[in-house]
Parts: sequence; structure tokens; C-alpha cells
Amino acid sequence: MVLGSRSFYLTAASLVLAAAAGAECDRLGEYIAEERPVALQSVLDNIGPNGSQVPGTAAGLVVASPSKHDPDYFYTWSRDAGLTFKMIVEEFIRNPSSHAHLEEHIDNYIRSQAILQTVTNPSGSLLPSGRGLGEVKYHVDGSRYNGAWGRPQHDGPPLRAIAIIGYAKWLAEQGPDGEAEARDVIWPVIANDLSYTGQYWNTTGFDLWEEVHGASFFTVQSQYRALVEGAQLADRLGVSCGPACDQAPEVACFLNSAFWNGQYFVSNIHHSHARSGRDANSMLGSNVVFDVNAPCDSPSIQPCASRALASFKQWVDGFRDAGAYPINAGIPRNRGVAVGRYTEDVYLGGHPWYLITFGAAEFLYNAAAQWERQGSLTIDSTSRAFFADLDASVSEGTYSADNPVFSRVVDAVTAYADSFVEVARRYTPENGALAEQYNRYHPFQPVGARDLTWSYAAMITMAASRAGEHAASWVPDSESVPSAPCPVPNPPHGTYAPAVAAGAPNNTDSLCAVPVEFRVLASTYYGEDIYVFGSASNLGNWDMGSAQPLSTNEYSDNYPLWNAVVDVDAPGQTLKYKYVRRQNCNQGYIYEWVDRTLDLPPCGTTDVLVVNEQWNGPTGQPGNC
Ligand code: NOJ
Ligand code: NOJ
Repeated sequence: MVLGSRSFYLTAASLVLAAAAGAECDRLGEYIAEERPVALQSVLDNIGPNGSQVPGTAAGLVVASPSKHDPDYFYTWSRDAGLTFKMIVEEFIRNPSSHAHLEEHIDNYIRSQAILQTVTNPSGSLLPSGRGLGEVKYHVDGSRYNGAWGRPQHDGPPLRAIAIIGYAKWLAEQGPDGEAEARDVIWPVIANDLSYTGQYWNTTGFDLWEEVHGASFFTVQSQYRALVEGAQLADRLGVSCGPACDQAPEVACFLNSAFWNGQYFVSNIHHSHARSGRDANSMLGSNVVFDVNAPCDSPSIQPCASRALASFKQWVDGFRDAGAYPINAGIPRNRGVAVGRYTEDVYLGGHPWYLITFGAAEFLYNAAAQWERQGSLTIDSTSRAFFADLDASVSEGTYSADNPVFSRVVDAVTAYADSFVEVARRYTPENGALAEQYNRYHPFQPVGARDLTWSYAAMITMAASRAGEHAASWVPDSESVPSAPCPVPNPPHGTYAPAVAAGAPNNTDSLCAVPVEFRVLASTYYGEDIYVFGSASNLGNWDMGSAQPLSTNEYSDNYPLWNAVVDVDAPGQTLKYKYVRRQNCNQGYIYEWVDRTLDLPPCGTTDVLVVNEQWNGPTGQPGNC
């Protein structure tokens, strides 16, 4: 009798639990079924030429958000656009007939990017150095953005390449016409981005959050995938990626040896910021390189990699601090929380982000899918703490699919993934709109840029992962990686050419330029910027509207250096130029007293001509606005 009533009690309790889980599951299922089409439409609303939220935007350009102030996101960012079109291409390929309307957007995107590649900008130009490809963002009509910014960012070209490669691979399988289009029209766009990636992967740049100048895990993961997958596509099309793609093993070596600190991947290295390096950066990167058929020890660092799981836990745990994130008060360790970029973040309040909360769920669904695919799961000393949060009884070992531990753990990880989606669901407003952030403080309202394209794209890729709709594989059967210490990098110069067949203007001659590094010592107050301008169009032709902003990447109080490498399009000529201070608070410009001159080498020079100078003119005063 006692036994009987006890078992009755257990049954009742588990029924209640099952009912609760079922209700949550339905709620999530309903949310996803409703939100996914809303999200796709909202993405398209932010793309030119017909996006309803972004009038005036050129065909194929993705606007980050319709928000024009606080913050002004009315620009096209290469990263956001690349990730968005990776999603659009995957959606299209999943169901080309029901998603036929997406193909026109993909065509527009490829064409718009072929044109954008030739737009000379503050990062440089396409010819001869390729440096212009590292530019971060452009005006929505496709013209250069000339303000000071954290540039270059090296993830734009590989992310764009990955998106377009996905489409080209599919197209090449559609018959000889598709194959010819992939080879003759699309490949030249991809080739520029691969050249850039092969040439600059070992050069520092800004991270995806546009704040840290150094080397960024997310960026290196994207670079690795682009080079490997680019080489595969080149083989398939009978073209060549050149020496750029041969850099892949060295990129993998760097990725695997430089960022790991014994506990987690430090997301940004080679910089001087006070940051722990626990950052959504590495989780998002593993989603970008995700291949359901890849082994967990792939050097691309897949979601199921022990080190990726350990990094995930270290990063998420920072957000469990209910003092700093009241939104997460009372949530147990086996449940998802509201997560943002990194806990030291102060940007617009440093709140949780929708795209990151969806990304966390996607990462976990992806890992679970990989274990299912492999029919096995390994828990080791590196990943044990991650699993222990979900199931305190787990111990290290390898569990095959017929072992009950396997399904228990995979189910727990999947439920953990669902619980992150549940967080995002709870803070999604009734109309389904997704901003950039949502407030960590009561009443937890949306914050920051409204209708962020990337938030919607992240919702859709999460939904696809949850539904087991996996994109085509790219990880090769064997990946070669030199053993550490990695060889000293010696990246090749890329070959660049306007992708004319895809719509780029054929202005090879006018784009010829020689690289000059301007270095000027000039103490400035916070808010004041230095530009260089002069008698070449890349130096604005004496117009401040297109002058070249210099950067403070190497600036310190003792050594107030402003510098930039500029591709100056006046080969063989005597350049006249000057440095200018742009003061804060709309005060006037301050110019140097006299013009400087510089004899430029002929077209085709790739060595950087370095000029070291001192500011020679009046100084400014803060406007105290
Ligand atoms: C704007 C960038 O987009 C954002 O990522 C960054 O956090 C802020 N600037 C502050 O630097
Ligand atoms: C700020 C984010 O930090 C950056 O990653 C993004 O590219 C821009 N916003 C535009 O969405």
C-alpha cells in the first residue's frame, strides 16, 4: 500500500512535469511557427530596392536597421549583410520552389557586392591592394562612409564569401547553365574576398563588436571556413583560388593554438583592453562554421567541441549574476538566461541581445545534432562542467547512442537550448518585432536599434537548427593543420579585379593606386579626430567630405600617433596634402599651416611608402557641448 501510494505520487508528479514541459513545448512551437515568417518578411523589409522600411536603398544592400538615430544604423554593414544572406541562401536552397522569391534577392546581393567591392573608401581601394574590401559599412546608396570608425574589420569578406559560395555550390548542381554562371559571373566576386582573406588574415583588425583592435576568434573561424570552402568550390568549377586558399592550414593552426587559455577561448587577443575574453564571439563563430557532419575535433571548432562547450559555459555563467542582470534572477543553472555580448559591455547599457540569445540556442541544437549524427558523445575533463550543470550525475567517458546516458544528455542539452528560446520568446513584443537588445532591468523592454536585421536572421537560423534543417556540409574528410608552434605566417599578395560580369564597373585604370602609410604625431583631446586630405581622389581632392580619417589604433599619451595606410590614386605624381583636425561640437576644422608634398612611385607598387611626420599647425580646444 505504502509502495503503491508512493508510486502513485511519483506518477502524478511526473505527469505534472510532463504536462508543464508539454505546455512549454507547444508555446515554443507556436512562437517559432508564428515568428519565423514574420522574421523573414522583416529581413526583406530592410533590403533594397523595395524593402518597405528602407526607401532609398540600392538593390541588394541590407540595411542593419531602419533606425536613423539613437542609434543610427541606417547603413549597410558587410558583416550583418553576409550573415543575413547566408541565412537567405540556406532558406532558398532548402525549398527553392516555395522560396523562389528569394533568388532575386540573392542575385541583387551578388551584384551589389560586386559593385561595392570597387568603391574606394577610407580602408583603401580594390586595386592593387584589396584593402578597400576590409571596409566596415557604406551608405545605403552604396557610397563610401567617411566618418571615423573601427576599421578595418576582416570578417566582412569571408562572411560574404561563405554566403555567396553556398549559392554558387547549389547553382553549379543545376546543370551546365548554372555551372557556367557560378564560374563566370559569381566566382570572380568570391575570388576577391578569398584573396583578401588569404592576404590579411594575419593582420590585426577590429572585432565583430567594432571595439577591440587585435585578433578575433569569430573572424578567424570565418576566415578558415571561407578559405577551405572556397578551395572546394574552385575545384568544382575548374578555376583556381590561387595561393590565398593554401593559407587555410595556417589559419587553423592559429585558431587552435593562440586563443585557448586552458579554460576557454579568449575571444580577442593581441590587444590592450581590460576584458576577460568570455564573449558571445566564439559561440557565434561556431554557428557560422557549423557542419552537422563535422567531427567534434575539427580544427574549425564546431559547437560539439569540448573547448567550445567549455567556452560557452564560461561566457553564459557571467550573465547568471542576478545583481548585474536582474532579468536572470532565480533561474537555475540548467536553464537558459538572457545573454549579451560580454559582461563588461556598456554599449547602450550592455543589455542582453536577441540575436545572441537565439545564437545560444542554435549553438546547443547544433551540438546535439552533431552527437546524434555521430551516434556518440564524449564528455572529457574540459567539457565536464558544462554537462554537470545539466545533469549532475554525468561522468567523463564516451557514450554511444545505445547507452541511456547518451539520450539523457542529448535531451538535456536540447531542453537547455529550448530554454534560451523561451527567454527570447518571453521578451519578444506582441507584434514580433526584434530590436537589438532587451533591458536587463524591469520591465525588460526592447532597447537599441529597432527591427535589427541580424536579430531576425538569427531567429530564423535558430529555427532551422531546431527543426533539423541543416545546410550542406563543407568540412572535408581530413583537415591538415601544422602542429604548434605554428609556422611564421607569410601570407601571399592577393589578385584583385572588378567582378565585371557580375555588374562591377570596369574601372581598372582609375583604381590604380599606391599604398602610403601616413603617420603623424598629434596630441588630441577626446572627441577630436585627425584626417589627411590632398590632391588625389582617395584623399578627397581637397574636399573634407571625402578626406581620409586616420586611426588611433597605436595612439598613447606618450606617443600620440594617428595613422592609416591609404591607397593613393596618383601613382607617379607629386602629391600635395595636409593634416586636418576635426574638432568636436561642430566647431570648425583646423588645418596645418603649409601643404606637404610627396613623390609617389609608379602604379603597381605594393610596398607601403611610410611617412613619419609631426603636426604642424594650431591646436584645438574641446567645445564642451
Ligand atoms: C558602435 C558599434 O557598432 C558597437 O558595436 C560598439 O559597441 C559601439 N560603437 C561602442 O564602441
Ligand atoms: C553593432 C554590433 O556590435 C555590430 O556587430 C553590428 O555590425 C552593428 N551593430 C550593426 O548591426
